[in-house]
Amino acid sequence: MKKRELGKSGLFVSPIGLGCMGFSHAYGKPMDRDEAIQMIREAVKIGYTFFDTAEIYGTASNPHENEEIVGEALKPYRDQVVIATKFGISFDTESGKVPSPLIPDAREDVIRKSVEESLARLQVDTIDLYYQHRIDPHVEPEKVAKVMKSLIAEGKIKHWGVSEADEEYIRRAHAVCPITAIQNRYSMMARYHERLFPVLEELGIGFVAFSPIANGFLSGKYGKDSHFDKELDYRSTMPQFTNEAIDENQTLLNLLKEIADKKNATCAQISLAWMLCKKPYLSAIPGTRKLERLKENFAACEIELSEEEIQMIDQQLDQIPMSAVFGGSAIKK
Ligand SMILES: NC(=O)c1ccc[n+]([C@@H]2O[C@H](COP(=O)([O-])OP(=O)(O)OC[C@H]3O[C@@H](n4cnc5c(N)ncnc54)[C@H](OP(=O)(O)O)[C@@H]3O)[C@@H](O)[C@H]2O)c1
Repeated sequence: MKKRELGKSGLFVSPIGLGCMGFSHAYGKPMDRDEAIQMIREAVKIGYTFFDTAEIYGTASNPHENEEIVGEALKPYRDQVVIATKFGISFDTESGKVPSPLIPDAREDVIRKSVEESLARLQVDTIDLYYQHRIDPHVEPEKVAKVMKSLIAEGKIKHWGVSEADEEYIRRAHAVCPITAIQNRYSMMARYHERLFPVLEELGIGFVAFSPIANGFLSGKYGKDSHFDKELDYRSTMPQFTNEAIDENQTLLNLLKEIADKKNATCAQISLAWMLCKKPYLSAIPGTRKLERLKENFAACEIELSEEEIQMIDQQLDQIPMSAVFGGSAIKK
């Protein structure tokens, strides 16, 4: 496995990283803590060197559990891995909605408190990649970037990035403190951020793709008989998992299956290989709780798709009918 550089940052990561959110958040009852730790360590053995968490991934009883798990799991491997975490949002749990709306807050004192707490939970001296989880409309990008510059100078973080970034925010923030990577939603069902590729190339910024299998849907393993916990599993509210959507997306799933068969691969692997082969500065961070899928997803970086094959897939994706796909939790105004 050849590591990839995120933009021109000097930060090298495995092409497939591990999204750790689902061990304790959004995908049903949390996984047993020791089993999650074991799974992350298995990922290291497989070759994953890039691990993604956030201060808000957790449960009602332990809202920051995910960082604790990631910290514990990776402690023996600290010098071999890149750990990314995120700051700048909390949940509006009073709303009673699933998923809870997000409350962005990127004030300097809030960030400073977050970084200290994340360092402690992750059991590290410095955070390799620190993302602003969502843009705070009340705090200018320059102000956030200035705080990031100070945190880098103080050695508390090494690199920073923005999640669900847009072009204006990227340009303004990057001018103050260079951004290493953005982390945006990207899959065959959500291609709207491709418009940022030229900006990232111009500025030398990497792309980390979250929810790259469209929350598992593109694996083709979920159907009308799939059931998701209404309170703990966000998939119960996602438009791509409704019965109507399963019908609507059949052509897409057939296309994936056809390519997968040709390449002796699985649909999930093709959905990952498609994006990896598109851009060399992109890393995808699928999440899974299953060892076989951990291996399967990682092996996607060995699958080659030519430029012609990618173009053919893109043309098909432009034309075929598709349902709506989950676009993220609402932001509280
Ligand atoms: N920045 C942000 O705002 C943001 C938002 C969402 C997510 N993220 C990050 O991105 C990571 C990944 O995103 P995600 O978990 O939302 O979406 P995803 O990786 O597209 O999908 C994860 C789901 O797909 C299933 N899955 C994974 N590999 C599979 C395979 N080979 N075959 C069949 N099913 C498979 C998993 O189920 P099993 O566990 O049963 O395998 C899980 O339910 C998260 O862990 C988190 O770190 C960031």
